[in-house]
Amino acid sequence: MVGYAFMGAAHSQAWRTVNRVFDLPSQVSMVAVAGRDPAKVNAAAQRLGWEQAVTDWRELVARDDIDLIDICTPGDSHATIALAALAAGKHVLCEKPLANSVAEARDMASAAATARESGVRAMCGFNYRRVPAVALLRRLVEDGRLGEIRHVRAAYLQDWITDPQFPLVWRLRRELAGSGALGDIGAHIVDLTQYVTGQRITGVSALTETFIKRRPLPAESSGLSASAGPAPSGPPATEASASPAAEEAGIAAGTGPVTVDDAALFLARLEGGAVATYEATRFATGRKNGLRVEINGSLGSAAFDLERLNELEFYDATAPSARQGFTRILVTEPEHPYLSAWWPPGHLIGYEHSFTHQMRDLIEAVAGGTDPRPSFDDALQVQLVLDAVERSAANGSGWTAVGHA
Ligand SMILES: NC(=O)c1ccc[n+]([C@@H]2O[C@H](COP(=O)([O-])OP(=O)(O)OC[C@H]3O[C@@H](n4cnc5c(N)ncnc54)[C@H](O)[C@@H]3O)[C@@H](O)[C@H]2O)c1
Repeated sequence: MVGYAFMGAAHSQAWRTVNRVFDLPSQVSMVAVAGRDPAKVNAAAQRLGWEQAVTDWRELVARDDIDLIDICTPGDSHATIALAALAAGKHVLCEKPLANSVAEARDMASAAATARESGVRAMCGFNYRRVPAVALLRRLVEDGRLGEIRHVRAAYLQDWITDPQFPLVWRLRRELAGSGALGDIGAHIVDLTQYVTGQRITGVSALTETFIKRRPLPAESSGLSASAGPAPSGPPATEASASPAAEEAGIAAGTGPVTVDDAALFLARLEGGAVATYEATRFATGRKNGLRVEINGSLGSAAFDLERLNELEFYDATAPSARQGFTRILVTEPEHPYLSAWWPPGHLIGYEHSFTHQMRDLIEAVAGGTDPRPSFDDALQVQLVLDAVERSAANGSGWTAVGHA
């Protein structure tokens, strides 16, 4: 595994757990974790359960006793690590969004296609597909219970940077993160809705906003979700040197420019004829990690809310009218996706289980010689949507077609 902070911890927990919960054809060995700071990566290895710590991810790629590389770093290093790993014949799990640009994502999808010919597998970490209620929603759509889909309504709402004093962490810098709320959380709802509907987004009309244009430079990287990279070097630091000219221009000492979106909103069309709205923001005051999706079809509707992730709301328009109404399905039955391995009905699961399910599906696919989903092609399709959103927003919200991976 490369990177050991927020996703590194979530993935480690899943790797530690997966063989204890699911009966799988292969046994996971957590061989080594890579970081850049020797003391920190050693401590992380101890805490997270890795046998060894190394300070250069290339060491992992070069080793014969490693079969799979799990990439949990910011987007600026995904392509380099994934391409090297696939070229060395290692299976790859790469966190989302797949890359910081369409060009990188295309290279990765193409490398995955080449690697597939030798039985090497690649998967992108859109873990919300593996929440049982989301997988059940997918089943309902596949079984035709929603009929023809007309509306998709998706929002992913957070509020962790509403304070203007919150520092300029890597997620707020384009060169490290690729984009802001759009790629970080918008990517999740794009993948989730394309997955559950089985339909690609074909075009968008978008707007983005950056509410706070400059932020204090971070003292040191720390924390699970806040920061990962070193303090910015180059242009932001130079601007921050409070020269008389800088002061005159109103540039505060010790600040740098936010170079990504704080919020992204867009209208979209799906290939099956549905129309959709998407909203991704880090400024929804009070909303911590609110991911909501509602789908309306000719035969029914369904709604999912991550803050109530054990539940799925389902409305069956074919039921007798006297008994129609939204049903709250408690998705904890053994018949529900992934649940037979866990607890008796009604004994709830949480956020981290989605990662355990992700590892289960990946191990099954690798052992069974099949392609895990979401594939790098699926993730490239998401990247094409993100790119179209940015181009539309830069072009006065003009209608922008989304290419096909
Ligand atoms: N699936 C999800 O729900 C989800 C949630 C959060 C983040 N993510 C994704 O996971 C990735 C990591 O995000 P995070 O929240 O874990 O970030 P983080 O800041 O918590 O951790 C990033 C880690 O990467 C390390 N790192 C950075 N550059 C490196 C390099 N060049 N070589 C080695 N290590 C390096 C950092 O030291 C740190 O350990 C991002 O792509 C992000 O979009 C996914």
